Amino acid sequence: MRCPHLPDGFDFTDPDLLQARVPHPEFALMRQTAPVWWCAQPANISGFGDEGYWAVTRHADVKYVSTHPELFSSNTNTAVIRFNETISRDQIEVQKLIMLNMDPPEHTRVRQIVQRGFTPRAVRSLEQALRARARSIVETAHTGAAAGADGSFDFVTDIAVELPLQAIAELIGVPQEDRSKIFDWSNKMAAYDDPEYAITEEVGAEAAMEIVAYAMNLAAARKECPAQDIVSQLVAAEGEGNLSSDEFGFFVILLAVAGNETTRNAISHGMHAFLTHPEQWELYKRERPGTTAEEIVRWATPVVSFQRTATQDLELGGQRIRKGERVGLFYSSANNDPEVFDAPEVFDITRDPNPHLGFGGGGPHFCLGKSLAVMEIDLIFNAIADVLPDLRLLEDPRRLRSAWLNGIKQLQVSTPLG
Ligand code: HEM
Repeated sequence: MRCPHLPDGFDFTDPDLLQARVPHPEFALMRQTAPVWWCAQPANISGFGDEGYWAVTRHADVKYVSTHPELFSSNTNTAVIRFNETISRDQIEVQKLIMLNMDPPEHTRVRQIVQRGFTPRAVRSLEQALRARARSIVETAHTGAAAGADGSFDFVTDIAVELPLQAIAELIGVPQEDRSKIFDWSNKMAAYDDPEYAITEEVGAEAAMEIVAYAMNLAAARKECPAQDIVSQLVAAEGEGNLSSDEFGFFVILLAVAGNETTRNAISHGMHAFLTHPEQWELYKRERPGTTAEEIVRWATPVVSFQRTATQDLELGGQRIRKGERVGLFYSSANNDPEVFDAPEVFDITRDPNPHLGFGGGGPHFCLGKSLAVMEIDLIFNAIADVLPDLRLLEDPRRLRSAWLNGIKQLQVSTPLG
């Protein structure tokens, strides 16, 4: 069924439409008139396939689908990561090794194991190192800007990129000398959607492969000679309560996708929001509210949408959905649903409560790295407020062409000299 109010051929997953910040008027219209809407046209989105899908745009419906894995399966198609043929397995089979694409009981088993690396204690143990990292990243950007003629720099490359990568490297114990390789692979993997980067799908797939191979080797080495790190804990002796080297390899690739680009874009969007809402920046510098990171994630919603597949014929939002049909969860729309948020169009770092779905709709796949992400966002903005309190926006951000990620690839800013 087509929404009668939308223009013919309108596809709101078109990357061009995602260039601007949500809420789009289209999402608002969808929530009001066709909150579960059949999009017949190919979605242009990795994993959405060519057969059409149901677009779910209301907060309550996104939550419902997320929390009913028995009705809406994640199997094989929540996130599609492309690998090249050297992985020598069927692409579909490979996707099943990524936990985001698993259903219970397999997902439950893997999640219980990897959760050990993300306990509040495990995350807190990274805080000191990451605080120092955040500070040095911002200080280096400051020094670089001060050395230039006009104090200008690109916030994305000089500040937002590095902390999320360092956090993952720290978490899994990647030695310092190998980090630049991992960073390079992650960037290639994430960028190939955007033609401007001139990175082909093959180069992206090759990079994904390199990460898996690197992580498998790391796992094998730790199995032989355990260290005081999370890898050693997760792979220790293979068996019921541990990951195989293979499983570990695919877990790390997921971290490189799920934990890296998402947090980077939350940080870039957060800075852009502060620069365009100076009263919120003044408030932040004065009070550093603990609610800030959550509002940044709601506002930015770095993951625009993920999807599920109906496991049986069922009804949702007044629509009949058939077994096997795909369902797209539009977090961007849910996070601007006025049924749940007062004045969702307002960026308010003191917003509380803030039941946004930026980290997922609360089901078994809810973001594993949420507390790490929140900590990273807090650490970097604290450092910016201390070291670069008077940043200015030089031009509008350049946005990433990607259908699932709300990304900023360049944000030119400047700091006063002298
Ligand atoms: C899953 C968002 C940071 C690791 C997810 C999901 C979303 C999400 C929307 C899917 C939830 C669902 O399907 O119900 C974000 C955002 C982040 C962020 C917006 C930053 C602002 C991180 C970080 C890590 C991480 C830092 C780890 C280093 C994961 C993993 C999953 C996941 C492993 C899959 C969980 C599962 O399938 O059980 N994230 N994420 N994320 N995230 Fe995050």
